[in-house]
Amino acid sequence: MDWIYYKPLFEYDNYHISIKDNSAWSGHRNFAYDLVRFMKPKKIVELGTHYGASFFSFCQALKDEGLSSKCFAIDTWQGDEHSGLYGEDVFLTVKDIVDLYYSSIAELVRTTFDEAVSRFEDQSINILHIDGYHTFEAVSHDYQTWLPKLSDNGVILFHDISFYDNEFGVYKLWNMLKEDYPAFEFKHAFGLGVLFPKGNSKKFNEIIQRATELQKRYEKLSKYTGLS
Ligand SMILES: C[S@@+](CC[C@H](N)C(=O)[O-])C[C@H]1O[C@@H](n2cnc3c(N)ncnc32)[C@H](O)[C@@H]1O
Repeated sequence: MDWIYYKPLFEYDNYHISIKDNSAWSGHRNFAYDLVRFMKPKKIVELGTHYGASFFSFCQALKDEGLSSKCFAIDTWQGDEHSGLYGEDVFLTVKDIVDLYYSSIAELVRTTFDEAVSRFEDQSINILHIDGYHTFEAVSHDYQTWLPKLSDNGVILFHDISFYDNEFGVYKLWNMLKEDYPAFEFKHAFGLGVLFPKGNSKKFNEIIQRATELQKRYEKLSKYTGLS
């Protein structure tokens, strides 16, 4: 099966508050969308959702693919020192968008990542997106805690692998992990790492080899749409 570069319409763009303009992640939404349609995952879990740019991009792909899969967003919806502390309006916006466009797909889990982990069976998550607090210690903890929940051939996405300022340490963890496991990465929009810590299915062999083509394509698209 070939990788398809879709031209999706993200329904959450119709909402009266712009979600994509409220996120440093938005430059990855086309890749995330195409990845989900390629993988057809049964379960996606996101650690760190904020306004939902990444989360709703996953949800849109599941919806358009017509899958009965579930996408879980885990967040306290209080913010942290890196994203800034924010008010209740953010959670209410996310909930409203779920109700409007993604009610049969999306599940909001409003708690800490550590409190949520026992709700998921081992080896049950096909795509795990780690985008919480960004110190080396925090992201390493999230990775170690959630790794048992990832399925064989599952994918972990890490945001901010190319952000080197302040206390951000995702790049340090990423530089270690990508040496040990099949992986590819995007540098634009603060960077997105794509890791297969439990091996990759056959259909990803060719995609990993074509990583440079994908990097160029999504970086260009991100710049073109003003989202990088
Ligand atoms: C960088 S933002 C997520 C951005 C989002 N993925 C996007 O597409 O815009 C990080 C989020 O993680 C949440 N967060 C950080 N640490 C957390 C923890 N330990 N448990 C639950 N939520 C946490 C914060 O509340 C914040 O909303």
